[in-house]
Amino acid sequence: MSGPVQADAEVVAVRRAGAYHRLVLLAPAIAGSVRPGHFVALAVGGPASSMLLRRAFSVHRAEERGRSGGTVEVVLAVHGPGTAWLAERRPGDRVDVIGPLGKPFALPREPVACVLVGGGYGAAPLASLAEGLRARGCAVHTVLGAATADRLFGVLEAKRISDSLEVTTDDGSAGRNGIVSDVLPDLLTRTRSEVVYACGPMGMLAEVARIAAAHGAHSQCAVEETMACGIGVCMTCVLPVVGTDGVTRMVRACVDGPVFRGDAVRWADVGTVPTDALGAPAEPLAPMTGGLR
Ligand SMILES: Cc1cc2nc3c(=O)[nH]c(=O)nc-3n(C[C@H](O)[C@H](O)[C@H](O)COP(=O)(O)OP(=O)(O)OC[C@H]3O[C@@H](n4cnc5c(N)ncnc54)[C@H](O)[C@@H]3O)c2cc1C
Ligand code: FES
Repeated sequence: MSGPVQADAEVVAVRRAGAYHRLVLLAPAIAGSVRPGHFVALAVGGPASSMLLRRAFSVHRAEERGRSGGTVEVVLAVHGPGTAWLAERRPGDRVDVIGPLGKPFALPREPVACVLVGGGYGAAPLASLAEGLRARGCAVHTVLGAATADRLFGVLEAKRISDSLEVTTDDGSAGRNGIVSDVLPDLLTRTRSEVVYACGPMGMLAEVARIAAAHGAHSQCAVEETMACGIGVCMTCVLPVVGTDGVTRMVRACVDGPVFRGDAVRWADVGTVPTDALGAPAEPLAPMTGGLR
């Protein structure tokens, strides 16, 4: 597998999908080396923009061939000026993209039962992961959750690929009224799943990792830490992770992740530098204030 590539990509399509936008970019040099869980970093605002930092997005789909000849698709929620700019792109526009970035999900060697959990647009990388797992003979059970029906992503695709699908919304506007962790314990027991893959908000990931561990399942969580450089240089994206030697280190989500073992992340300490982390100052650091652009 080759490393990240920078490409001046043509926009092939921008489509609404509920509360989200699906952005398809022509990027043959990147598409061929994307694995489920990889992300791409998109430049925003055009050449004269004051928005210097790239924005990170999980890859939803990477098609190596096809009519356009190598595309990368991301699913974006408009959050601030960078994502608003991307949502306004039209076919034929250009977007500078770097990818694939980060470490992808690891697939099990044996054909075991797996549960995939997606929160909101966190479902984006799970469809291609499900296909990869099915190709290895794994059973795939999916749980998708969101605050409201329009914030669910990939329900039809998940229904097609998965052996079973459960949907939850906080307000009951689709599926079961509740959150993904309400259905996960019973699903793990019923399906005897050995691996749980999750992507979504940090609170959801913490809960999924806890439930997986309580059921003796291995979990892999794709985290979304605030990023600046995206290539391992600036240390903006660090979070406390316990190594196999039992030592906590502040590791970079952009190059050491974004996929981590759920039982290795110190979820309660994310956003801090624990004083027992390797190289940490004796006194706790004050939380960083101010914004990134
Ligand atoms: C690995 C990874 C995968 C992601 N996948 C998706 C996805 O599939 N779909 C999606 O809609 N969003 C995704 N995000 C979040 C997305 O990167 C942010 O919503 C986006 O950067 C916000 O930019 P903005 O200009 O709209 O907002 P602003 O808040 O104005 O952003 C200001 C700055 O903060 C940084 N920033 C702000 N929020 C985040 C965040 N949540 N994560 C990382 N950097 C942030 C931006 O890089 C930018 O430099 C992902 C983030 C990471 C780290
Ligand atoms: S975002 Fe700069 S080191 Fe990770």
